[in-house]
Amino acid sequence: MITVSKFVRQHIQTLAPYSPIVPFDVLSEQLGRPIDEIIKLDANENPYGPSPKAIEAVNSLPFPHIYPDPESRKLRALLSGFLNVPAEQILCGAGADELIDLILRLVLDPGDAILNCPPTFGMYAFDTAINAGKVISVPRNADFSLDLDRIQAEVVKNRPKIMFITSPNNPDGGVISDKDLKRLLSMPILIVLDEAYVDYAGADASRMHWATEHDNLIVMGTFSKWAGLAGLRVGYGAFPKDLMPYLWKLKQPYNINVAGDAAAIASLQDIDYLQANLQLLIEERERLSAKLSEISYLDPLPTQSAFVLCNVTGDKQAGDLKQTLADHGILVRYFNKPGVSNMIRISVGKPEHTDKLIAVLKELE
Ligand SMILES: Cc1ncc(COP(=O)(O)O)c(C=O)c1O
Repeated sequence: MITVSKFVRQHIQTLAPYSPIVPFDVLSEQLGRPIDEIIKLDANENPYGPSPKAIEAVNSLPFPHIYPDPESRKLRALLSGFLNVPAEQILCGAGADELIDLILRLVLDPGDAILNCPPTFGMYAFDTAINAGKVISVPRNADFSLDLDRIQAEVVKNRPKIMFITSPNNPDGGVISDKDLKRLLSMPILIVLDEAYVDYAGADASRMHWATEHDNLIVMGTFSKWAGLAGLRVGYGAFPKDLMPYLWKLKQPYNINVAGDAAAIASLQDIDYLQANLQLLIEERERLSAKLSEISYLDPLPTQSAFVLCNVTGDKQAGDLKQTLADHGILVRYFNKPGVSNMIRISVGKPEHTDKLIAVLKELE
């Protein structure tokens, strides 16, 4: 008998697992409710789903038995117009998640460091650990703004190679200012700006085109949120020209499957439909925030994203609240760690989701 687990790379042996979401059918069993009675406000998915044209494209794939275009040529050409970035600087991934891993595989030698500003999206630190890198944490200020002086000091002292900045940030929904982003870009470090939720922050909020003007900036986006394609896994990024040849070498040839490719292309051909849904979600976010602020034990934070982060106050515990809501078929995220202690994050849903949520929250007053 040979103990094959001893062959596992050392740093993987000690890696803490990532806890992903639970799929609908499993949830339905766990909660003892049919899927259509579950209100899923825990993973910032788009409750309106894809454009009908994207669904039609997936349902009528001409060549599902043939490998996809490894260069996603048509998709990248359309993205170029949408993002105002030359196609030569665009690369697509199986979700922005794949791009995060790809970027880290590109630049990290074992022991190299990234700079991370928690509380933020968990994949940056997780993928760094997978790539045997170190994380230098510069926690955000109490209002979730960046501690720029400390960031600068860490960049000078410990020379991390990459810094991930999420704007709007997950979990609070705050946006980085032009001034702060410019200050970060003046530092000797590669900046990855994750704009997964930028479309919820208004028409001109994206800095995607900045990637054509700054040699040390990558900007990432995703079809998961604005286009409702989270299950089809298509993300994109605008990269410095210098990095492109290496990224092409590194990426798996068929990372974007034909269904995701077709759905993403159809989405870019049906922008008005998707924009109208986004507008509904932005309006609903404002209504949700106003209603949450009327709940005596919740204190919602300002947000420009697809979710509202709330302090849980009084004698209520965020973990208990999450569980009670789940018992009513409503799923939210809760946090209880430094920077986000006793908080819940609620994704924006349809108006009927808000109404049901608020009714349950009121009962608990
Ligand atoms: C900040 C942020 N970036 C990236 C992602 C992942 O996006 P994708 O579905 O394209 O992998 C998420 C998903 O929730 C996110 O919150």
